[in-house]
Amino acid sequence: MGMIFDTHAHYDDPAFDDDREELLETLFSGEVCGIVNQGTNLKTAAESIRLAESYPGMYAAVGIHPECADENSLGELEEIRRMAAHRKVVAIGEIGLDYYYDIPKKLQQELFVRQLELACELSLPVTIHDREAHGDTMTFLRQYRPQGILHCFSGSVEMAREVVGLGMYIGIGGVVTFRNARKSVEVVEALPLERLVLETDCPYLSPVPFRGKRNDSGRIRYTAEAVAAIKGVTAEEVLRITKENAGRVYRIGIAGTGEQTGGAL
Ligand code: NI
Repeated sequence: MGMIFDTHAHYDDPAFDDDREELLETLFSGEVCGIVNQGTNLKTAAESIRLAESYPGMYAAVGIHPECADENSLGELEEIRRMAAHRKVVAIGEIGLDYYYDIPKKLQQELFVRQLELACELSLPVTIHDREAHGDTMTFLRQYRPQGILHCFSGSVEMAREVVGLGMYIGIGGVVTFRNARKSVEVVEALPLERLVLETDCPYLSPVPFRGKRNDSGRIRYTAEAVAAIKGVTAEEVLRITKENAGRVYRIGIAGTGEQTGGAL
C-alpha cells in the first residue's frame, strides 16, 4: 500500500486534461494512498466529487475560494451545503482570504465566515487558504475554532504555534524544498511531525528538482525527504506520520493505523 497522502490537490485543473485518468491510475497503483481534491467554486467542487466517485482513494473538499468570490457566491452556499452531504466529501474547502488579489475584503470575509459556520454546523473540517491575510485569518480562526488544515502555510513560527494550539494542522508543500524557503523550514523545525500534513496544491508548486513543472501527488516524496532532513528522521517515517495525521483530520479510516470511519484506503 502506498504511503503518500496528498491533503490538497486540484486534479480538475485543465493542466491534467490530456492524461488525468492515466496519471491518477498510475499514482494510486504506486506510492499514493489518498488524495483530497479541493473545490474552489461550484463547478470545481462538482468535479472534485466526480473524481472522488471514480477512485477509492480520492476524496473531495467543497467550498468557494476567495479568488472566486463574487456577488453570486453567498447565494451558492446552499448548493455547497447540499454537496457536503456526499459520502466522499471530507471537508469544506478551499476557503479563506486572499489579499493579494483585488477582490473586496468585506465580501471575502463574509464568504469565509459563512463557510466556517457551515463547517461547524456540519461538523466537517476546513481547508484554509491564507495569502497576505495572516492577521484577519487568525482573527476568524480564534473566533470560530474550526478543525482542519491551514494549507500552504506561509506565516511565522509564532503563528504556526497558535494554529496548532487551536487544534489545527499545518499543510507543508513543495515550497519547503526551495532554496529560499527559510520560513517554511523554520516552521517544520519548530513543530512536531504530529501536527504537519503534506500536500501538493498540484498542478502548482512542484518541489525541487521539478520546480516550475506540473506537480502531482507522487512528488510528495521529495517534500517528505526535505522534511525528513530537517527533522533528522527517514522519509518513510515522515510519510507514515503525516498520512496518519491526514486520516485523523479528514476522518478517513486508514488500514493499520487504528483510525476508524467509513472510507477505506
Ligand atoms: Ni489550493
